[in-house]
Amino acid sequence: MVALNDGRKIILTALKGGYHLTEEALEILKKSEDPIGTLNTVIDYVKKTNPSCVVLDGELIRAVIKQTGKLQEPEPVQEEEPIVYACPEVKIIHHYPEDIRIEGRFEEFYRYFHSRYMKLRKILEDRGIKFIPLSEIVKMKKDQEATVAVMVLDRKDTERAIVFECEDPSTTATVLVPKKAGEVLAKAETVLVDCVVGMRLRKVNDTVIVQDILHPDVPINQKHASSGPDMYVCLISDIHIGSKNFRRDLFESFLDWINRDRDGEVKRIGCIVLCGDLVDGVGVYPGQEKELEVVSVNEQFYAAAKILSEIPERIELVYLPGNHEPVRKALPQPPVPDPYKKILESGRKLKFVGNPAKILIGNRLLHLYHGQSLDDLIQILPSVSYSTLHENIGKVLEAMLQARHLAPCYGQNTPLLPLDSDPLVIEEVPDVLCTGHVHVAGVKSYKGVLLINSGCWQEQTSFQQSAGLKPTVGTAVLVNLADMSTKLKLFG
Ligand SMILES: [Fe+2]
Repeated sequence: MVALNDGRKIILTALKGGYHLTEEALEILKKSEDPIGTLNTVIDYVKKTNPSCVVLDGELIRAVIKQTGKLQEPEPVQEEEPIVYACPEVKIIHHYPEDIRIEGRFEEFYRYFHSRYMKLRKILEDRGIKFIPLSEIVKMKKDQEATVAVMVLDRKDTERAIVFECEDPSTTATVLVPKKAGEVLAKAETVLVDCVVGMRLRKVNDTVIVQDILHPDVPINQKHASSGPDMYVCLISDIHIGSKNFRRDLFESFLDWINRDRDGEVKRIGCIVLCGDLVDGVGVYPGQEKELEVVSVNEQFYAAAKILSEIPERIELVYLPGNHEPVRKALPQPPVPDPYKKILESGRKLKFVGNPAKILIGNRLLHLYHGQSLDDLIQILPSVSYSTLHENIGKVLEAMLQARHLAPCYGQNTPLLPLDSDPLVIEEVPDVLCTGHVHVAGVKSYKGVLLINSGCWQEQTSFQQSAGLKPTVGTAVLVNLADMSTKLKLFG
């Protein structure tokens, strides 16, 4: 018997004889003891009995076998059971499940930024860097140097220098990076307002000159496990069910693929992460009603439940909200409220988490974040724009990791909830930082961390068109947790 995948030789033999084989005919021949001999017998028989026949189908082959009596169709081969991979449990390490109330007082914001400063300073200190209070620099003698950890309040580009207004709990101060500073200048250009950085300073007359800048970043010696669980995580986001632009056809191709249990990739998928904007929501932006196919949020969730019910139950489905879900817009967001959970769970089981969230699968840490602040970073970072996002999405995520903060620039378009402890600091270096929101798929490895944006399932919107953003529609990113290799899957 030929190997089950060795159909090519049979097909070529049939073609040489001037015949085409149907899929069923090929399967019967592949399972016979002597596929080529059986085929030649069938061809000889057909030539004599039906010279005009050019297509050999299963029925004909069975009939010939019966007529000639020389060949015996083999017993049907028992198909192997698909291998079921034992996936480790998906553990939710951290998220904000509750609806949190704040009063909007100045003290709340002070505590929030103090917490951000202290957490980011600790990341720097953990590398063995010692800091003095910023207030001490006034006491420094000429040409003396010291290192401080500061939050950048403002930056100005002048003809001769970049001027930073900085703050730590002791005081505020102005420091300069001269334009002729070369390497330091290059580092200074990556410093964003509201970020916390380490600065080595030197007093030159009455001016304080920056000698070096240290981002919290990922340490060079950061260790990542060389192997993880033998399974894939599939990352998708921004499905936008309810929108007229939702590409149902592409998502059906995805569902069709995810149900192919014998596909080598599919059978290894143990978890799908749905990184926000499952539904399009209602009233998310002015004039949205014109772009909605389903105008009720409830109905959008019912439609989502039906669609998600087609994902095999053996696959864990983790779902966090985005800016289109009916939850608080300020970060951190809680999971969708109970009524919507119930609707979704009428279709299948899900793991509901807030945004952002950290999950652990085996020894792999995944930091999940819908990515609302990506819009701010795209506006702020030089040489990045919506129209160049296909090339630069990795660079934007890299800036986030360098700042070790999911929304490093305050006061732009990302509302933040001033909690006592800043939940958006990336305190622990993850194995994967997974985002969505900007609808452009991209994968980058940065200092051992996989930076991923999983694209979308919604056709270009009018806003995206006006911004020159071309979404990557119908995309999923597969991450092999064993070796951290990735694959961008395109459906269509
Ligand atoms: Fe979206």
